[in-house]
Amino acid sequence: MKEFQDLALITPEEVENLLSLARRLEAHPEPRALEGKILALLFLNPSLRTLASFQAAMGRLGGNSFVISPDMSIHGLETRRGIVMDGQAAEHIREAIPVIASYADALGIRAFAEREELDHDLADKDYMAFRELVNIPLINMESAINHPCQSLADWKTMDDLGLPRAGGKFVLSWAYHPRALPLAVPSATVHMAAMRGMDVTVLRPEGFELPESIMQKARDAAQFSGGSVTETDDKAAALEGAHVIYAKSWASTKHYGHLPNDEKAREGLKHWCINNSWFDTTQKDARFMHCLPVRRGIVVADEVLDGPRSVVIPEARNRMYAQMAVLHQMLGTK
Ligand code: CP
Repeated sequence: MKEFQDLALITPEEVENLLSLARRLEAHPEPRALEGKILALLFLNPSLRTLASFQAAMGRLGGNSFVISPDMSIHGLETRRGIVMDGQAAEHIREAIPVIASYADALGIRAFAEREELDHDLADKDYMAFRELVNIPLINMESAINHPCQSLADWKTMDDLGLPRAGGKFVLSWAYHPRALPLAVPSATVHMAAMRGMDVTVLRPEGFELPESIMQKARDAAQFSGGSVTETDDKAAALEGAHVIYAKSWASTKHYGHLPNDEKAREGLKHWCINNSWFDTTQKDARFMHCLPVRRGIVVADEVLDGPRSVVIPEARNRMYAQMAVLHQMLGTK
């Protein structure tokens, strides 16, 4: 594997192979599999899980890793193209990426959405520009419109729990958040659940519709897997019979890039906070999922997050096993 950019760019069989490798490495560790290999991790945005789980994954396979982020760089990192660098930053990403890559056997890049122009972010233009600078295996650690490592871990979590594929009802629900968050996780998640063969409902208030290109990509995956994808603002209909409520907030797509209008659009939506009553008509043992970090009492009530339905910790732990599988396929010699 030369790149792990998007689950949509690998076949269902390749996903199954990764999942089965992740389970194998969980059950039977291979502490020397990546001996002598080095993974470089470039974080242009904050992280807890991705940073820690990639370093842990590399360590458990016998390899090493190093981290670079603008916070720790004494030079500062400029990412804008065509800029005259007369400000604080003394190093440009166009040199930094190839230099970092030259020290490593694989590179992970995290570069969130600019959240200024929807088309720019939907085309994942920043990640695409960065990947042109890399000549070693590359991992997308969350770009403007994708988070494949999270999706692979979430898929494994649902498999571990025995959640149904065909006939499984997966609700991706928008939740209130004080800030306009990126589309990467909702976009990756709706596609992942559809590719897994589930019946996916995107539940969101008016003005927060997922863009048509994201929905079409998920519908294409569903057509192949036998699942389905719909979108609604009808909470009662969406939640009835659900096996999973996956909560996530995202920016208003109607007012994308216009923060005052976005703020106005989310006024009055504070009741989009998942509490136990959301599970009144779901399957009895329905699960609550979230990629974390999550704001307690804003996105989800403590009673759900601290209760038996919540699988947010297994999701986070599975990041490590999912990424061990990706790294093993990328850098393993056997
Ligand atoms: N879910 C996730 O990617 O977490 P971090 O932002 O902490 O890496």
